[in-house]
Amino acid sequence: MKLTRRVFIGAGTATAIATISQLARTKPSYAKNGEINLYSSRHYDTDERLYKNFTEQTGIRVNVLEGNADELITRIKNEGRNSPADVLITVDAARLWRAEEAGIFSPVSSQVLEGSIPENLRHPEGLWLSLTKRARVIMYNNTQVDPSQLSTYEDLATEQWRDRLAIRSSNNVYNQSLVASLIAHLGEKEAEQWCRGIVKNMARPPRGGDMDQIKAAASGMADLAVANTYYFARFAPGRAASNPNIFNRIGVSFPNQNGRGAHVNVSGGGVVKTAPNREGAIRFLEYLASPSAQAIFAQSNSEYPVVPNVPLDPVVARFGDFKEDKVNVAQLGRNNPLAVKIMDRAGWA
Ligand SMILES: [Fe+2]
Repeated sequence: MKLTRRVFIGAGTATAIATISQLARTKPSYAKNGEINLYSSRHYDTDERLYKNFTEQTGIRVNVLEGNADELITRIKNEGRNSPADVLITVDAARLWRAEEAGIFSPVSSQVLEGSIPENLRHPEGLWLSLTKRARVIMYNNTQVDPSQLSTYEDLATEQWRDRLAIRSSNNVYNQSLVASLIAHLGEKEAEQWCRGIVKNMARPPRGGDMDQIKAAASGMADLAVANTYYFARFAPGRAASNPNIFNRIGVSFPNQNGRGAHVNVSGGGVVKTAPNREGAIRFLEYLASPSAQAIFAQSNSEYPVVPNVPLDPVVARFGDFKEDKVNVAQLGRNNPLAVKIMDRAGWA
């Protein structure tokens, strides 16, 4: 049984990180006052800085179990009352909702969290809350499309974009949440019509991830792509997937700026109902909502902070300010099953 242990040189603290498969046959220790067990489906090395800083500030050690959201949810369910998990963090409102439906979270009431995180980004009963935001927007090939031609998500489904759009498959949770937001604003029938229009406008059958859609638009195989902004930031000079042929060819357009605003999704987390160290778990979430932790989130994966006045990643800052859709994120989760159904009915592969 091997726990990967990453020691931060000079910090005098250590974070134990294990993957779900590594831990499948081992029994994580119960968290005591001096530690918390975090189950996380975020896989960013920079998140470790957050854990280390939290330990330095509070003396509470963070043990991390990484896995995909469904594995972690199943694991907590199977562990039942004996689960060592204190906090579950995952990506996308739909997955947070799944954890909520599985009865994993217990409500938290915290003046710190309520004071710093806007209401639309928190579950109405305090079961979970958002820690970062991601905007899912229109990206366009700037040799083929003038940004003045772009306006709303609704417009993407109209005939002028026939065979010109690159977008992922319907099993992608980000697209499911986008459709969930359309259900919230337009109703089921119109949202389904929208899906049918999108299917007609696809430049190719859906394949690949967000970065592949951006590449398709940059190469001219499509004129438009739908993607989260942090994926585009990866093509910027000096970044992980740095590529001037893509970065300089693509423009970012925030839809619905004269109306409800651009669709925003989140990563977030909550305190597990059976948390052995509930108090430590709440302190951890409060730390993650602090301006310094929010700045690390923003810089590390080019996401948007959930707390106002936190500096953005400079690449993201260049996309400009935008108005965001303020629909409560919990509603995106609740609409998820219907979103999946109507995408299927519309023939969205
Ligand atoms: Fe992502």
